[in-house]
Amino acid sequence: MEKFVVAVDGPAGSGKSTISKIIAKRYGLTYLDTGAMYRMIALKVLKEGADLERVESIERVLSESKIDIDGEKFFLDGEDVSIDIRSREVTAIVSQVAAVKSVREKLVEMQRKIGQGKRVILDGRDIGTVVFPNADLKIFLVASPEERASRRLKDYESKGQEAEFYSVLEEIKKRDKIDSTRKESPLKKATDAVELDTSGMTIEEVCDEISKMVDSRI
Ligand code: C5P
Repeated sequence: MEKFVVAVDGPAGSGKSTISKIIAKRYGLTYLDTGAMYRMIALKVLKEGADLERVESIERVLSESKIDIDGEKFFLDGEDVSIDIRSREVTAIVSQVAAVKSVREKLVEMQRKIGQGKRVILDGRDIGTVVFPNADLKIFLVASPEERASRRLKDYESKGQEAEFYSVLEEIKKRDKIDSTRKESPLKKATDAVELDTSGMTIEEVCDEISKMVDSRI
C-alpha cells in the first residue's frame, strides 16, 4: 500500500486519539496527534505569561517556538513537553490559542509536510475539512458530552490529577463551543466523512467498526 491518509475528527473526549493509535498499530500507519501541536503553543503562552486576549502576543510566542515531533513525543524548544501539554491549565486555554489564524496556518503547514505521501492517520478538528480534504477515509467521532466528560475524568484520575465531573463537563462544553464556532476552520464534519457515535461502545467495538472501513478502502 502506498500513500494512505485517514482523517479522524471530532470533539474533545470522543475517543479520537485512543482509537487512532490502535488503528495506526493495526495497519502500520504513522500517527499524528495534531491537538498536541496546538497544546505546545498554549503551553508556551502560559510559560511566557503572554496576553491571551491579544493576538500579537500569541503570534510573538508562535514565532519564537521551535516544535519537534518524534512519534508520540513532543519537543518545545528542545524540551520534552509530552506530559506538560496535557495539564488542565493548558486544556483550559488551548482552544483560544487554536482560534488564531496564524497559529493554524503554521501548524497546518507542518501537519501537511508530516503526512504528505505517507501512510498516516491524523486526529484533530479540521483534518478532513482543511488539512487533508482528499483523505482516503474520513471519520467523524461523536459521543454525548456526559460520556466524554466521564472518559476525561477517568483519564485525569489515572494520571493522579484531581478533577470533578461537573467541572470537566463544563470544560468540555466550553471547548466544544469555541472549537465549533470559531471563524478559522471550525470543528465540523466533512460532507464525505463517516459519522460514528461512540456512546456506549467499547474501544474494541469502535476499532473493529473503523477497521472494516479501512479494509474496504485499501
Ligand atoms: O485533541 P485535543 O483535545 O488535544 O486538542 C486540543 C485543542 O486543540 C482543541 O480543543 C482545539 O481547540 C485544538 N485543535 C484544533 N485543530 C486540530 C486539533 C486540535 O483546533 N486539528
